[in-house]
This record gives sequence, structure tokens and C-alpha cells, in this order.
Amino acid sequence: MRLILVVCALSSAWVVDAQLLRYEGKIHFGTDGHDQQPHSKILLGSDGHDQKPHGQKLLGVDGHDQRLHSQALLGGDGHDQRQHSQALLGADGHDLRSHGQKHFGVDGHDQQPHGQVLLGGDGHDQQPHGQVGNGPRELSHTHMFKGFMKKYNKAYNSQSEFKKRFSIFRQNLKKIHILQQSERGTAKYGPTKFSDLTEHEFRRMLGLRPDLKPTLSQMEPAEIPSEEIPSSFDWRDHGIVTPVKNQGMCGSCWAFSVTGNVEGQWALKHKHLYSLSEQELVDCDKTDEGCNGGMPENAYEAIAKLGGLETENDYPYEAKDDQCHFNETKVKVTVNGSVELPQNEDDLARWLVKHGPISIGINANALQFYVGGVSHPLRFLCNPKSLDHGMLIVGYGVHTTKYLHRRQPYWIVKNSWGPDWGEQGYYRVYRGDGTCGVNQMATSAIVP
Ligand SMILES: *[C@@H]1O[C@H](CO)[C@@H](O)[C@H](O)[C@H]1NC(C)=O
Ligand SMILES: *[C@@H]1O[C@H](CO)[C@@H](O)[C@H](O)[C@H]1NC(C)=O
Repeated sequence: MRLILVVCALSSAWVVDAQLLRYEGKIHFGTDGHDQQPHSKILLGSDGHDQKPHGQKLLGVDGHDQRLHSQALLGGDGHDQRQHSQALLGADGHDLRSHGQKHFGVDGHDQQPHGQVLLGGDGHDQQPHGQVGNGPRELSHTHMFKGFMKKYNKAYNSQSEFKKRFSIFRQNLKKIHILQQSERGTAKYGPTKFSDLTEHEFRRMLGLRPDLKPTLSQMEPAEIPSEEIPSSFDWRDHGIVTPVKNQGMCGSCWAFSVTGNVEGQWALKHKHLYSLSEQELVDCDKTDEGCNGGMPENAYEAIAKLGGLETENDYPYEAKDDQCHFNETKVKVTVNGSVELPQNEDDLARWLVKHGPISIGINANALQFYVGGVSHPLRFLCNPKSLDHGMLIVGYGVHTTKYLHRRQPYWIVKNSWGPDWGEQGYYRVYRGDGTCGVNQMATSAIVP
């Protein structure tokens, strides 16, 4: 495997405005992701694409999209993707004025069916639009923040802490907005229980450390089965996946990714599903760094050296670094090797169906505000080379969108942030193009 150089405190993906500007001329809106791909010399409409019905409605009902756009492609100057300070959609009549040739919206709004109503034509755009609403913005943010505090039982012990968290929350709404408007899948991003955390605080709860990867990998390449596989598959239906756990404010994702994998390997081979101890790895795997992060590859070897894993009950999770108190007489499960899987996602699926859940590394940029759906962020918002989180693939499937019948193949990925995050603790990420590096660090233990 290639050595992936990543530091834990990653450069911020949220210095986005500058990046978006660099993407000027490459991003264009549309209903099927089509417009988000570079159009090189091909102007919108020049292949007849825009002249065909787009679900309920043509893009640009005034024939606008059927005209040549020379340089001025829809959204071609990044205009629609930038914050409009106070002047969100319609807030100041902005959208009702002529934009040269151009009209569009900032929140994916314009990609939804509008019935008969032309953009802005009935004052529609001047009404609040849920999370990225305009109008008395401060007020709606306060309201949202109070709702968030209530929903997640948040209490701040001083007025200044409240103010600080509110300010972070509002910053995060901008990130949510950027993720949502550029989303190519069906994912919804919104306030989650992590919405009052800064990016730095959030990253403490990850814990994948590719810099701890040994220069000489001990891992064997996995053999890929050649059998046909079904179009969808889910190990949760086969009793070899434990309930979703919670790593808390400790960068121990790597340990959860590994126990999840070993739990599955053992259950498949020995017909007994144990919930295994992450704390043992946090405390006793000295190649890795406990709550400061680690690597599955090292952990497999540590388990083999220690002599096995105790159960969750015998060596319970504390979400902090502690003394190793491993007791070999309590070992329930052992590991005697590990394999590295190829990056080809069809091969990963074939291996998964035959051999069980797969430990992976992934870029966590889309995770802080993930609410549900098939997540397919733009590549520059989720660099596949910057892996910073460990998770567990337990299955895969294909979603077909309601209006446009777009195929959305996905992985079902178990996370370790409790069942009140994502889809009951799970994440679905687009399958087939290496989204967020989901295919870059796939490994498994081998159990005797
Ligand atoms: C290890 O566990 C056994 C019970 O399985 C117990 O009898 C023994 O005292 C433990 N050893 C230590 C050092 O705690
Ligand atoms: C692990 O143990 C099993 C059963 O004893 C054996 O068949 C297998 O070859 C071992 N694997 C490695 C990598 O040592």
C-alpha cells in the first residue's frame, strides 16, 4: 500500500471560498450532477441535454439554458456558490433583479421541482428556506440553536460558553450549507450532536493516524473470490455485527474499526458473536497511541502479540488512556494475521460477501454534519488521500432517486459515534469512485 502522508490536524477543508473560486468555471448547477462536471468546451445545452425535460421542469424556464452561454455558464463564476452575506436568496430583492443572463440559487433550491412557479416570481424566494433561510437571520439561528440544545440535551455552564458555542454553531451552518449545496448524492447535512464543536475539537474524536503506518507492511494481499455477488448485501442481517458503540471524546476510531472487523471474522468462523474490548487496544497496543490515534494494521499485530482480545464486559470502555490491565486468562478471541484489500470497489464487495465486514480508513469531512442519505461530496471537499477516521464496511446496496431515477450505489458503514448519529449510527457513502478515500485503506484481521 502506498504510504499516505497525513497529519492528524488536517488542513481545513473549510477554507472553501478560496477553493471554490479556484473552481470557477468548472462548477455548474443542474439536476443530475451533470452540471457539476467540467464542461470543457461543451456549453450547456449544446448537446441538446438541456432541451429535454428534467423531471418536472426544464432548467431555466425562460429558454435561458437553450441559448449559448459563451463564457457565462450557469454559475460559472462561482457566484451562486458564494455566501451572499446578508443578501441570501431574495432577501433584498436580489434574485428578482436581472443578473445579466443569470439567475440561480444557493442551496440546491433551484434543483428542486418548482411546479409552475418561476424562480422568484411569486416572492417565493423571499420566504425563509429552513436552515439556510434568510429574513431575520440572527433570530432564526437563535431559534435553531435552542432547538439543537434541547434535542441533544446540551447545557453550557456560563453565558460566555453559550456565546462561544452559538458562534461555532453558526460557523458550522455555513459548512453545512456548502456541503449541502454541492452534494452529488442524496445526503442531508444539518445540525448534529457535533454542531457546537470546532473542527479542531471534532478531529479529536477521530483518530486514524496514517503516519503510524509501518514503512514495511506485514500485510498479505487478500485473495479476491470470483463468485457472483448479489446487488445488495448487509451483514447486519446475518448476526455478525454488534450494536453501534460510542468512542466518545477519544481518538480511538481505529480500535473500534478493528474490534468490529474481528467480531465479524470470529462470528463468521466460530458462530459466536462477542462484543470485543477497544479499551484493551487503547491501553495495551503500544505501537498505536490510544486516544491520540492509531492504525488497524498495527492493532492486528498487537492483538496477536498480546495473545488475544477480552470482551467489552471484561475490559470495558473508558474513552480515555489508562494502564494496560490485560488478563490473558480472559481472552475470548485471537488473531493470527491480517490482509490488505485492493482498492477496486467491486473486489471489496466480493471479498465482503464471502469474508465479512471490512475495516477502512476514510476522510471524515462529510461526517460531522451527516444526517442521512447517500453521501457523495465533491472531491475537493473530501480529499480521498487524507484519511483521518476508521470505520467498518458492513454491506452495500443501490439507491434509486425518486424523481430522476439516478442510480446511487453505496456502502453501509458502521461508525462509532453512538446510534444517535447518522442513520442509527451508520453512514452510507457513494460506492464506485473512491469517495472520501473509502477504498484506500481496507484491511481485515485473520482469525484462526
Ligand atoms: C485474571 O483473571 C482471572 C479470572 O479469569 C483471575 O482469577 C485472575 O486473578 C486475574 N489476574 C489478574 C492479574 O487480575
Ligand atoms: C491462522 O491459523 C489458522 C488455523 O490454525 C491457520 O490455518 C492459518 O494458516 C493461520 N494464518 C496465519 C496467517 O498464520
